Amino acid sequence: MNILILGSGGREHALAWKLAQSPKAEQIYIAPGNAGTALTGTNVPINPTDFEAMKMFVIEKEIDMIVVGPEIPLVKGIRDFFSHDRILQDVAVIGPDSKGAQLEGSKDFAKEFMKRHNIPTAAYETFSAKTLAQGEKFLENIGAPYVLKADGLAAGKGVLIINDLDEAKAELRSMLVDARFGKASEKVIIEEFLQGIELSVFVLTDGKNYVLLPEAKDYKRIGENDTGLNTGGMGSISPVPFANSEFMDKIEKQIIQPTIGGLQKEGIDYHGFIFFGLIKVGDSPFVIEYNCRMGDPEAESVIPRIKSDLLEIFEDSAKGNLKETNLEIDERYTASVMMVSGGYPESYQKGKVIKGLSNLNKCIAFYAGISNDVDNNEIKTSGGRVMAITSYGDTMDSALKNAYKNVEQIDFEGKYYRHDLGFDLKQ
Ligand code: AMP
Ligand code: GLY
Repeated sequence: MNILILGSGGREHALAWKLAQSPKAEQIYIAPGNAGTALTGTNVPINPTDFEAMKMFVIEKEIDMIVVGPEIPLVKGIRDFFSHDRILQDVAVIGPDSKGAQLEGSKDFAKEFMKRHNIPTAAYETFSAKTLAQGEKFLENIGAPYVLKADGLAAGKGVLIINDLDEAKAELRSMLVDARFGKASEKVIIEEFLQGIELSVFVLTDGKNYVLLPEAKDYKRIGENDTGLNTGGMGSISPVPFANSEFMDKIEKQIIQPTIGGLQKEGIDYHGFIFFGLIKVGDSPFVIEYNCRMGDPEAESVIPRIKSDLLEIFEDSAKGNLKETNLEIDERYTASVMMVSGGYPESYQKGKVIKGLSNLNKCIAFYAGISNDVDNNEIKTSGGRVMAITSYGDTMDSALKNAYKNVEQIDFEGKYYRHDLGFDLKQ
């Protein structure tokens, strides 16, 4: 099979790395990819939302399957575009149509969906500019902290958690009236604050059946002990020690099955990943958010634990054959540490030479913001998140130790990483 992967981060490198191991894979292309995906496939300079350009490429290279990394092409309807095209309708797209992608594309849709199907989530109300006064009143009647969420996609920045009532009111106004997040904040969800520990759970579904992937914990804040600004993710660990079989059972029964049942009842034919962003409150799981794709940096710890041929599983998902599919999982832990550019997630410099790659041992290096300087035969930083180092271990501690040993081998000016991954999981 010829495969086209869309995206350019560590997640896409992990997908390309895994799919390249399938005996069924012939050509693997990544649009636009990075210096890491270029090691396992061929990068092509196509924007993942330029569906017309993609169509030409798919026809020319006889692509059989498109694996969509990030959410934007899905929310913009890449699956609809291909399935409505007479020539392209047989190309398998791993990812939902634009209706299914609303689970991530509209927080209001996701909350309403959970309400309709009795899926545990924080209590909430949705407001628009017209109902600003009611929104302010609502804030007055609930306690701090106040959780404000822009309805639409806001590059991971649309969630505000605020302790002060006046500040919360001002932010609500700025989102609804001054369009702080553009169209994405035309509607704002105000929801109950949940106190607990988060985890990420993933399934691949064919719309009726699903396979459960290994769960993971990601680390979102830039600073040690989960302090400082939110980032795209500073690393991840899989499995999650507190997610024992009893708790995972609750997640399947109370969240995963009602979600897939709900999609079916609503006539949404969902083929692809569902990423459940969950929080454990007491002994109960609640949904914080849905995503319509794999997580990043979770993919960098989850995908290396899948022993089965992922390409075959993608085919089963596309064809509606997941009922018979068994996923073979590596029992070992994986820990994945993200190295970032100094200054990230605020401003940072690019173009720093990366040294020490040949010293890596017993790890997988998934590249995120790295480019090849062909003229000087050097590889250089080209983004905030630079690379994730993933290692295995029989225990979480040994996986972390192996990963950190390798992280220390890599050098670039301004290199930063968190030293404390797993701090909240020690038992
Ligand atoms: P989201 O973009 O919905 O994942 O939200 C970003 C982050 O905000 C989540 O990963 C949580 O850490 C936090 N968060 C979102 N909603 C809530 C909530 N209702 N209670 C507590 N924390 C939340
Ligand atoms: N790790 C969170 C995300 O991919 O959105």
